[in-house]
Amino acid sequence: MEKTRRESVLLDVLDRKIVHPAPIWLMRQAGRYLPEYQALRKKAGSFWTMCMTPELAVEVTLQPIRRFDFDAAILFSDILVVPHALGQDVRFEEGHGPILDPFAGLHRLVRDEAVWREKLAPVYHAMRGTRQALAEDKALIGFAGAPWTLAAYMLEGKGSPDQRAAKLAAYRDPAQFAELLELLTAAVAWHLVRQFEAGADVVQIFDSWAGGLPEREFSDWVIGPNARVVAAVRQRVPEAKIIGFPRAATQTGYEAYAAHTGVDAVSVDTAVSMRWAVSALGPLKILQGNLDPIALIAGGEALDGAVDRIAEATRETPFIFNLGHGVLPETPLENVAQLIGRIRSRK
Ligand code: CP3
Repeated sequence: MEKTRRESVLLDVLDRKIVHPAPIWLMRQAGRYLPEYQALRKKAGSFWTMCMTPELAVEVTLQPIRRFDFDAAILFSDILVVPHALGQDVRFEEGHGPILDPFAGLHRLVRDEAVWREKLAPVYHAMRGTRQALAEDKALIGFAGAPWTLAAYMLEGKGSPDQRAAKLAAYRDPAQFAELLELLTAAVAWHLVRQFEAGADVVQIFDSWAGGLPEREFSDWVIGPNARVVAAVRQRVPEAKIIGFPRAATQTGYEAYAAHTGVDAVSVDTAVSMRWAVSALGPLKILQGNLDPIALIAGGEALDGAVDRIAEATRETPFIFNLGHGVLPETPLENVAQLIGRIRSRK
């Protein structure tokens, strides 16, 4: 797929053309901390309706861009649209996070791409609509959950602190679990390619549950599937820019992820030392991260100090400023403005 490359600081950093100014965007930059998001969700009735109604998803994607000087918009959607396309439905209950229908077995999952296309059409419509409405110099980011994280939600039926149901299923029947990961790998790669075709400049793969895995399982469930997703996407979109986020991985986990998945950039969580990341991962990959979302709630000197330490550590390396995880609902708007001002004022 050929397309002309837009002028964007995010893409320049991903191409290693520039180091300064560091681009800024935030995971969950669209969401509950914005009063205009709260108002629209009330009108729409639910989070899922907003994800699946292109006009609403476009509007919510643009809300943070109107208010703040971010370098990129991330499409408003959810990682659980892929289980939905495979036939395992999802609902969101106020204050409880996502709840999935019980896992009915591998043989019940839909493998027909025509069905995936129909169920995910609103996401691609929203991507096209966002690209049309977005300023030329803003990059547009698409995303998907990684196979292991999606498998954990599908087998658990909800978020879980230790992914026990998924791990038990995998330990008891490794062959079936490998087959589930392969189906998810195909569906995730397919979904990312459709997002590029609909106008995404960059995609991020969220492996939110990559922490807490033994070394061998990290290799089999995180590294392998992420590498196969990246390879499958590049087969269709050779120039695809891909950011990977193996959240809460160990240092050896991050090193293996940087060395073996083929992503362009690695997003690191809050607990990672940026100095370590620059020396251990920086030679291999562009870095992104890792401000504590709670420092963003605190604001003031705590926020300035945290921003300065990250900026100092990444001074000489291509770097994308972001949080270590998503923006939290109680984040004051003025702190987001303070954060962006602080980064932009650095020389
Ligand atoms: O701005 C953006 O970053 C784009 C939109 C986005 C959402 N979810 C919107 C959302 C993205 C990239 C995601 C990814 C996502 N979704 C992940 C991976 C990132 C991570 O946080 O680890 C995961 C695990 C999910 C699944 C999911 N969706 C959960 C666990 C929740 C509940 C979280 C919570 O804070 O209550 C959601 C809901 C969700 N996804 C919201 C938003 C804005 C909150 C919905 C609402 O109540 O209005």
